[in-house]
Amino acid sequence: MENAKEYYDKTSREYVQKWQDMDRQSTFNASFYFRKKIMETVLEMARVEKNDRVVELGCGTGLVLRELLKKTGRVFGTDISPEMLKRVQDSTLKDKKVVIAENFLEADARHRDAEVLLMPNGISKLDLPKNYFDKMLSVEVLRYVDDLENALCNVAAVMKMDSRYIFTITNFWSSSLFPVKFSIRKILGLVNPQKELLQYFVTERSIRRYLKNAGLEVVEFRKMGLLFAKPLIKKFIKNQAAAEKIYKLDKALSGKPILGKFADTFVVAVKKSASL
Ligand SMILES: C[S@@+](CC[C@H](N)C(=O)[O-])C[C@H]1O[C@@H](n2cnc3c(N)ncnc32)[C@H](O)[C@@H]1O
Repeated sequence: MENAKEYYDKTSREYVQKWQDMDRQSTFNASFYFRKKIMETVLEMARVEKNDRVVELGCGTGLVLRELLKKTGRVFGTDISPEMLKRVQDSTLKDKKVVIAENFLEADARHRDAEVLLMPNGISKLDLPKNYFDKMLSVEVLRYVDDLENALCNVAAVMKMDSRYIFTITNFWSSSLFPVKFSIRKILGLVNPQKELLQYFVTERSIRRYLKNAGLEVVEFRKMGLLFAKPLIKKFIKNQAAAEKIYKLDKALSGKPILGKFADTFVVAVKKSASL
């Protein structure tokens, strides 16, 4: 986990640059298109309303917060990497009033004019006010969390009874084969945590078990990226029209019982179990 903090503290500027370059480049980029579809899906599943209090856990440089601000006036974000949070302020949302604070309750009361409130905080030691947020999100974060069940318990502990947590997580059986190859390299001792970002993957069965143990109930479980995760297929997606066709097919196939086992990304919406 500290590995993720160090990695993102070191590479926050590259992260900003990477997404800016993809946004600006004239040649079509299938990975960028798919990433936008993932964000859209999370936001659609979150059903954010104008006055909802929304927080992204692991907000990074603020790319999801930027989209959220189109739906609601004020957003909250946490991240284990203080450098990533600084990039929200000086890069992605530099035109907004962004406050980085140590305590959300205090900052929320003190900075009524802030559009973005940020707090350095890791999901494994979550320090959020209880029963405060209507929607909680994590996009491309949980794959860097080793103690996932504990992280989900932490989220459940601060959720309101009627709130939702929507997150993405990478399937171990992804058709990209990346998780399988990474895990084999890890077993063989070929992953160097000093140089490389550690990653953790789930199966549908394991994530459902972690959620149940954390007292969370699945409201919606979508699977994405059966085709988009395949480098060979991505190579042939040269423009928007082709991407849209493949995306439609991807959506249909990723939802099928057997093929869905090889989807790349699970997007899951959960609520607190009534028995809690
Ligand atoms: C791939 S980036 C995604 C950032 C943002 N959600 C987005 O979609 O652009 C992963 C982010 O997760 C953060 N992260 C990793 N482990 C975390 C943890 N245990 N708690 C909170 N944030 C974490 C990293 O610092 C990084 O900013």
